[in-house]
Amino acid sequence: MKTVRVNASKVYDVLIGNELIDRAGKYIYSAVGGDTAAVVTDDIVSGLYLEQLLAMLRGAGYDTAVFTIKSGEASKNAYTYIRLLDHLAESKLTRSDVVIALGGGVVGDLAGFAAATYMRGVPFVQIPTTLLAAVDSSVGGKTAIDLESGKNLAGAFYQPDIVICDTTILERLSPRVFSDGCAEVIKYGMIADDELFRMLSTPWEPYLEEVVSRCVSIKRDIVRRDEFENGERKLLNFGHTIGHAIEQLSNFSVSHGRAVAIGMAVETGIAVKMRMCGEECYGELIALLHKHGLPYDMPYSAEELARAALHDKKRKGEKLTLIMPRRVGKCILNDVRVTDLEGIIALGLTKN
Ligand SMILES: NC(=O)c1ccc[n+]([C@@H]2O[C@H](COP(=O)([O-])OP(=O)(O)OC[C@H]3O[C@@H](n4cnc5c(N)ncnc54)[C@H](O)[C@@H]3O)[C@@H](O)[C@H]2O)c1
Ligand SMILES: [Zn+2]
Repeated sequence: MKTVRVNASKVYDVLIGNELIDRAGKYIYSAVGGDTAAVVTDDIVSGLYLEQLLAMLRGAGYDTAVFTIKSGEASKNAYTYIRLLDHLAESKLTRSDVVIALGGGVVGDLAGFAAATYMRGVPFVQIPTTLLAAVDSSVGGKTAIDLESGKNLAGAFYQPDIVICDTTILERLSPRVFSDGCAEVIKYGMIADDELFRMLSTPWEPYLEEVVSRCVSIKRDIVRRDEFENGERKLLNFGHTIGHAIEQLSNFSVSHGRAVAIGMAVETGIAVKMRMCGEECYGELIALLHKHGLPYDMPYSAEELARAALHDKKRKGEKLTLIMPRRVGKCILNDVRVTDLEGIIALGLTKN
């Protein structure tokens, strides 16, 4: 097992290793204590791991309550959020009890926002069950729900008290859900770690524990320096400005990981056209996305994308920050004028 300690506004451990769910009750009790554990999960994950987790929680002395959402991004909404808060109240959860997210990024974001706001904040545990949640959404404290007018528009920075990442669960994921997470892993390689990027072109699945802890460590370091995203943390949004626009335009039928993959390809294409990075950087990225079964062709026009992106909360005043690679392992923040966005995106859509 590997432990990554995160030093943010809260200090907490991310535990990464095999069969950790079998020890979850013990870990959670020693991190937060409490009497009642309210587990939030979705209707796919509940059939796989809920009973196992509940048994461990009861074994550690917890009373348990369960809230199950329908799987998928469409559940990350205000209606489900309010129902969840009501469920916590009906379960008589107090500020010394704990909310546990058992699931992917959708469950984690929703449960985290509920934990942040129920009674002004209760202890919170993340048990990520997708690769994407393990390497990204379960760490760093961003929680959110989507609004009609855009993704993640209501949320809070709220760090968990412990993250338990069972790599045995990740190993059993379907290739499609696994590859969604690969998009975020490739993102870490692009923004901060060329060695990780190269490792991904070899058979790396046997080293899952190593890869997850490397990604979490990169995120930990960035979050420690810029927890509330005033600057450097924006690097983690590489591929996301355009990725979120794709998710939105597709009505969320394109998954987050796939949208980010296309977003990274386009943002890198823009950087090549703006002479911020070389052609070979684009070529290496496309080859790696291809190898992991991820898409890189854009189904939407620059005009549609710009319109959708400007609904995105990353717009600040008249400028918006795009993340651009200089080379594999290094990206920079590039502020662009909102009025120039469509033309800039068009650069990334035209082939050389
Ligand atoms: N908070 C953050 O910092 C952050 C970072 C990245 C992404 N996100 C958010 O995360 C969400 C995407 O996360 P995701 O890709 O995990 O999506 P998800 O939670 O929808 O999970 C993807 C699918 O896999 C299923 N699933 C989950 N675990 C499984 C398992 N062990 N076995 C089989 N199926 C399983 C789910 O039911 C779902 O159908 C988006 O809403 C995105 O905005 C948040
Ligand atoms: Zn993401």
